[in-house]
This record gives sequence, structure tokens and C-alpha cells, in this order.
Amino acid sequence: MNIDAGMDFRLSEEHASIRDAARDFARTVLLPGVIERDIECRFPREEVRKLGELGFMGMMVDPKYGGSGLDTLSYVLAIEEIAKVDASAAVVMSVNNSLVCYGLDKYGTEEQKEKYLKPLASGEKIGAFCLSEPEAGSDATSQRTTAEDSGDHYRVNGIKNWITNGGSAEIYLVIAQTHPELKHKGINTLIVEKGQKGFEIGKKEDKMGIRASDTHSLNFNDVAVVKENRIGADGFGFKFAMSTLNGGRIGIAAQALGIAAGAFERSVHYAKERKAFGKPIAEHQAIQFKLAEMKTRISAARWMVYKAARDKDQGLDYVESAAMAKLYASEVAMWATTEAVQIHGGYGYVREYHVERMMRDAKITQIYEGTSEIQKLVIAREILKE
Ligand code: CAA
Repeated sequence: MNIDAGMDFRLSEEHASIRDAARDFARTVLLPGVIERDIECRFPREEVRKLGELGFMGMMVDPKYGGSGLDTLSYVLAIEEIAKVDASAAVVMSVNNSLVCYGLDKYGTEEQKEKYLKPLASGEKIGAFCLSEPEAGSDATSQRTTAEDSGDHYRVNGIKNWITNGGSAEIYLVIAQTHPELKHKGINTLIVEKGQKGFEIGKKEDKMGIRASDTHSLNFNDVAVVKENRIGADGFGFKFAMSTLNGGRIGIAAQALGIAAGAFERSVHYAKERKAFGKPIAEHQAIQFKLAEMKTRISAARWMVYKAARDKDQGLDYVESAAMAKLYASEVAMWATTEAVQIHGGYGYVREYHVERMMRDAKITQIYEGTSEIQKLVIAREILKE
């Protein structure tokens, strides 16, 4: 992107080649099985392994730790292309990149980076970010999971809910309360490994959308976690979660953008092929108006997502631009996929034409990593904070 050229969003050759590589991967590797994986709720394990080989699982991580050393714009371009075809694969990638790898890269110790970031960034292992609880979704400060200080380690007890990559991950960043009297300032983030004594993968959710990504509850029964696995200083856990979520929202905004753009592309193609009343439906003004409005809103969302990525890359404050991009792109995704189903008519309501899945997938982008209402709250606080 020519960042200094005002509102000129032409991509540099390097950015365009990353986008093209992701597009090619999505069409050749993800597209063939996307419908079956959705029906069977089958995690795209082999596909994610290949994403890792191509450097898409740790895109912004320093190559020293197994990452690709790219910027946030490259990352959103890749997520957008992957989500155009397979929103489930996109969320696996997004959580690993922006919540897990980014958090470890920015705040982890050298030892944590060597041990945990390297396999995560290279795609050898998958990560999960464990903040939500049965009674702490939007209200994230109300953590009930405890991490009791026991000398050289913590003892973790509690339940986490709706954890993306919950069953498929090997490394978990677990947010838990150590000093309840300090409220959010008493929270820690701990690195827990699959298979640790007392750590059980709980129920798998049967979801409306993003069905090929696995979402689980997790149970912690007196899990001992060494103090070396705490990220940051004692009590830094909530700040850690909020800080990583700011970047995570850019990833989800890009996912929403990709879902909307994918549904739009399918709608244009269908409208040119499908005939009604003696001509392709694309020649009917009712359809033209829909396509025009879809493209307009998707373009606006795209600029907002790229702007948030640009803010992050330039070291600017991106709390507000990330929340606005996520709010708007997710609303556009829900609206555009609904329009796409309408344009496809009866065909839009069956699996073969993909847009019904996209409509189901779009809904979660208005819910996870902060509901639309939470994004409005974040934006309003930024407006009013001075
Ligand atoms: N960036 C950095 N710091 C932030 C922040 C942000 N966006 N938002 C809040 N903070 C800081 C505040 O500055 C404050 O720190 P100090 O006390 O040092 O000043 C601290 O966090 C507490 O903030 P508040 O007093 O404002 O807390 P609150 O309870 O009133 O509201 C909230 C906070 C914004 C509503 C927050 O709880 C929130 O973002 N909730 C949504 C949680 C969420 O997104 N969950 C998604 C789960 S993860 C997921 O979905 C991943 C997946 O699997 C796909």
C-alpha cells in the first residue's frame, strides 16, 4: 500500500503477491472440501498444516522465531482471501496469528518465545486464547477461573467457554484471576499445554456457522503451571488480553470482509449466468441495485480494515480504528451474505451454492472478539476519553 499517498490504496507488488498466494491457496486447497467440512464439522487439519508451511500461521512474527516477518496489511490481505472461500480456516489462522503469536511475540520472555512461539509461528502447533467463561463473555473483567499462587507455580481451577481451536490446539493462553481483591489488576495470563494433568478438553459446540473450526469448553482442575509460564508481570493478564484483542479485532474484521467479498463475487457470477424473464438476472435493475450497493459497502469496509492495519503498522493508536473496522465489516458481512442468498433465490438456500454457509458464517463476526455492542462501547470510550 502506498501509505503516504493519501487515500491511494494501491497495493505494492509485495502485498499483491501475498494476496495472490493466499487466493491461490484458498481456491486450490480450501475450496474443494469446504462444503463437506462444514457438514461434518471437520477441522481443516491438513489444510492448516499447509498454511503453516506457507508461512500463514505466524505472519507477523520475527523470522528468528519461525514467523514470516510481515506487516499487518499483509496479514489482513491473506485472511480476506482465505475467508472468501473458507471462514472456518480463516478464524483458525486469525486466532493463532493475532491472539496467540502476537501476544507471545510482544510480551513473552525469550524462553517462552523459543519454547512456544517458534512451533506456533511455524504452524507446527496451533494455539488457543482462553478468556471467555460461562459468566464472563463481554464482561471480561469478571474472571471466575482462578490461578492460585503456590510458590514456584500457579494452581489453575475453572471453566473456559467458546474457545476457538479448543480441541485442536496444543498451546493455550489461559486468563485467570490470582488476586480477586485487585479485580482486573489481579489477573494473569498463563501458558498451558495440552495433556497437562487436570486439564480436560470439554464439550464441543454444535454451531450455526464456522462449523469446521472447533469450539470447546475447557476444564481446569488444579492444573499446576510453572511461574515461568506467566506472560508479563504479576497482574498484567487483563491488559495482555485487551491489548491482543485490539489486534485480533483487525483479523476478525478481515475475516468478515472476506466473507462479504466472497458472497459478492459468487453473486456477480450467478447473476450473469442465471436467466429469468428472458435475460440474465444481472440485466434486471433489482439485481443491479443489490450488486451496486454490495460493492459500495464492501469497498467501504475494505478501506476501514486496511486503515486499521495501517495504523497498527505505523505504530499509531489502533484501538478505535480496529473496533470500527470490526463493527462495520461484520455488519456488512451479515447484510451482504443475506443479499447474496436473496440474489441466488432457491439456489441460495442450498449448500451447493455456498452462500447459505457464508450467511451462517457471517453471524459470528458480530459476536466473537467482542460483540458489535462491545465495539460501540470501545469506540465511544475513545471518542469521549479526552
Ligand atoms: N485496549 C487496551 N486496554 C484496555 C482496552 C483496550 N481496548 N479496554 C480496556 N482496557 C484496559 C483499561 O484501560 C483498564 O486498565 P486500567 O485499569 O489500567 O486503566 C482495564 O483494561 C479495565 O478496563 P475497563 O475498566 O474499561 O473495563 P470494563 O469492564 O468497563 O470494560 C471491556 C472492558 C472493553 C468491555 C472489555 O471487557 C472487553 O473488551 N470485553 C469484550 C471481551 C471480548 O472481546 N471477548 C472475546 C473473547 S476472545 C474470542 O472471542 C477469541 C476467539 O475465540 C475467536
